[in-house]
Amino acid sequence: MSPESAPKFAVESLSTEALEDINHRIDFILEQHEPLRDKWESLIEGLTPPNQLNRLEDLARKRREALPPRPYISEKLLITKEVPEKARLLFEKNFQEVIAGTQEVDRGYNGRIMEYPDAEDDKKVVYKILIRHPIGEQNDLLSEASYLADLYALSQKNKDLRIGVPQPFYCATLTNARLIAMQKVPGVSVENVLKQKLPLPKEYDLALLEESLLAFVGRINAAGFHHNDLRVGNVMLNLEREDSEPLAHIVDTGNAKWIPSSKLKGEIDNTTDSVMIKKVVETLRLYRERQQTTEEQK
Ligand SMILES: Nc1ncnc2c1ncn2[C@@H]1O[C@H](COP(=O)(O)OP(=O)(O)O)[C@@H](O)[C@H]1O
Ligand SMILES: [Mg+2]
Repeated sequence: MSPESAPKFAVESLSTEALEDINHRIDFILEQHEPLRDKWESLIEGLTPPNQLNRLEDLARKRREALPPRPYISEKLLITKEVPEKARLLFEKNFQEVIAGTQEVDRGYNGRIMEYPDAEDDKKVVYKILIRHPIGEQNDLLSEASYLADLYALSQKNKDLRIGVPQPFYCATLTNARLIAMQKVPGVSVENVLKQKLPLPKEYDLALLEESLLAFVGRINAAGFHHNDLRVGNVMLNLEREDSEPLAHIVDTGNAKWIPSSKLKGEIDNTTDSVMIKKVVETLRLYRERQQTTEEQK
């Protein structure tokens, strides 16, 4: 359906929540297509929010179709761990019913991270399920799992940098069961540190964190791997770590891509990942400063 022929919703009839969701999705698409933002914004000017979203989704789809075919399936995406009993049920039983036995660990804009609260054997396994269809240039779940497998392999090769990536165990994409099972990462996302105002231990060295993360993205970028979404929700800090454990983990390959350096251009260039990392660490520095000031005032 072309955006012009799409039904014109009366914006007033939308709930605040629905309108917020639409605006969130509009922002998201524009953010994903930053170099085209001005052009696309002028194209949707004057349309109602639902029609703006329709139009943008259309533009994003056309752009996506012009890009290399999907899904991407990595040769590294193998079942690397015995499928835990309860999760295996997903293949045989009703997805909803089985998911009902899980608890949410956290959620992002696109996915929920679930675990079985009392299961011994899969204690360290979490399941990512998508709560909405991938939009813009996001990967579908199978591609996301594939990129995760590749990024995990890169992290294993560069263990000296002490940046971890959750190991993917398997990916299921049956009609009513789509999930990635992966290692549960110890620690907390930068986003949750900020949102929940968690204390940032004095010993947690931000300069070292920045250095390690930048070195890590430097190496993956040099290999042609681009994460493209290194925001606060996708960097997890290991605040109570043992010396042998990584300082931080990088999660969420929903936007990742292999791009040989000769093909780099436009919105993804060879600095995107490092620019985003610097922003994340800068946010943490400001957060720590504010925390210290509040403490001194006490
Ligand atoms: N392997 C993991 N172990 C523990 N927590 C995780 C793991 N992966 C993600 N999370 C948490 O769940 C949140 C949402 O996951 P994410 O994959 O980023 O979803 P989205 O695609 O919606 O952004 C993250 O911000 C992080 O706090
Ligand atoms: Mg995320």
